[in-house]
Amino acid sequence: MNILIINGPNLNLLGKREPTIYGSQDFESYFNKLQTIFSEHQLTYFQSNHEGAIVDKLHETGFAVDGIVLNAGAYTHTSVAIADAIKGITSPVIEVHISNVFVREEFRHHSYLSPVCWGSISGFGLQSYQLAIQAIINKTLKP
Ligand code: DQA
Repeated sequence: MNILIINGPNLNLLGKREPTIYGSQDFESYFNKLQTIFSEHQLTYFQSNHEGAIVDKLHETGFAVDGIVLNAGAYTHTSVAIADAIKGITSPVIEVHISNVFVREEFRHHSYLSPVCWGSISGFGLQSYQLAIQAIINKTLKP
């Protein structure tokens, strides 16, 4: 199965950024771990701090891959453009968050992406990505 992980703004700073909220592991080393866990599958990873680049990536891959795991970071709470891009593609998208956005500031409680995603996973640390990948594999394998 072909699964793409997209990380949005500031997630390139994982490991250094607010470690009490996001942990102290960088995403590259966690991605290596995911590749070992899901060694039968083809995982790819893309990160951008730019909204348009995320929209472009969704267009470019969203008719071909089996699933997309998307942590849009702060764009989750602001981006109609990313929501429209998800609506416009055929690959299923799962929204993930490292932190539990619902116990944080009120502005993080609203997501433009949740209504157009297959589902959302929030609050399990980096493990949120592993759960989302497993969900894509399980759901796609169902008859
Ligand atoms: C986040 C939560 C967002 O509210 C925040 O803007 C992020 C990271 C998370 O993974 O917990 O950048 O998506």
